[in-house]
Amino acid sequence: MPKMLLEEIKSVEEIAKGIFKFSVFSDYVSKNAKPGQFVNIKCNDDSYVPLLRRPISIMNVDREKGTFDFVIQVKGIGTENISKMNARDKIDIMACLGNSFEISESYKNIAVVGGGIGIFPLLFLINDFNELNKNIKIDTFLGFRNKDLVVLENEFKSASGNLFIATDDGSYGHKGLVTELLIKEIGESDYDIIYTCGPLPMIRKVALIAANNNIKCQVSLEQRMGCGIGACLVCVCNIKSNDKAHEYKHVCKDGPVFWADKIVFED
Ligand code: FES
Repeated sequence: MPKMLLEEIKSVEEIAKGIFKFSVFSDYVSKNAKPGQFVNIKCNDDSYVPLLRRPISIMNVDREKGTFDFVIQVKGIGTENISKMNARDKIDIMACLGNSFEISESYKNIAVVGGGIGIFPLLFLINDFNELNKNIKIDTFLGFRNKDLVVLENEFKSASGNLFIATDDGSYGHKGLVTELLIKEIGESDYDIIYTCGPLPMIRKVALIAANNNIKCQVSLEQRMGCGIGACLVCVCNIKSNDKAHEYKHVCKDGPVFWADKIVFED
């Protein structure tokens, strides 16, 4: 059951222009959060603008220290307000929301594909996999628009066996799509599962690559949200069901993680 919490911010760091990493003291989130879940952050002041909270993925937890991390990219008034918060400020969050990625000891060789701000929940995922199985093989593929937006490279490098980076303009790593790197590696690797989060064209491509290679694939959908708990219809997505052609699901409550072969990708 999600909780409303007023927690203390431990630190804030601008890790790239307009991209801020927050660490927050929260015993509850650090002990209960699972990879893929998110928090809904209050980001208005007394003017009630913006009215809606902002859903932000949990990037990592430190269960011993009782902290969790998240990253925001300033894109509007809500994220701008959050970016102005400082260490020792109180932050009003609803947590922990949504379902989580499937983590299993039976997965011994995994690929993780992230793009833009979709990379953040994947760090939590691979950290938990490393905790579960020290011998797991993890290939991580990250895509960014350009070199200035490449963040958390060291964190992903130390948690992954191999890290592959692509930028749209070629200013860092491979020039082109991150999925091109995945296609290159997939022939050599025998992945048990692929996890992905990022822009829709990217996850659609990853889902297709996984299907063509008969590999299981889980997708975390990024979606505009309202309530964050299944009470409005802002976040619906189209999911295949067994008895009907498809059905509408709430990304916030039924997701954000779905099996890729169940998603009806709309144009
Ligand atoms: Fe309200 Fe999902 S955000 S139902």
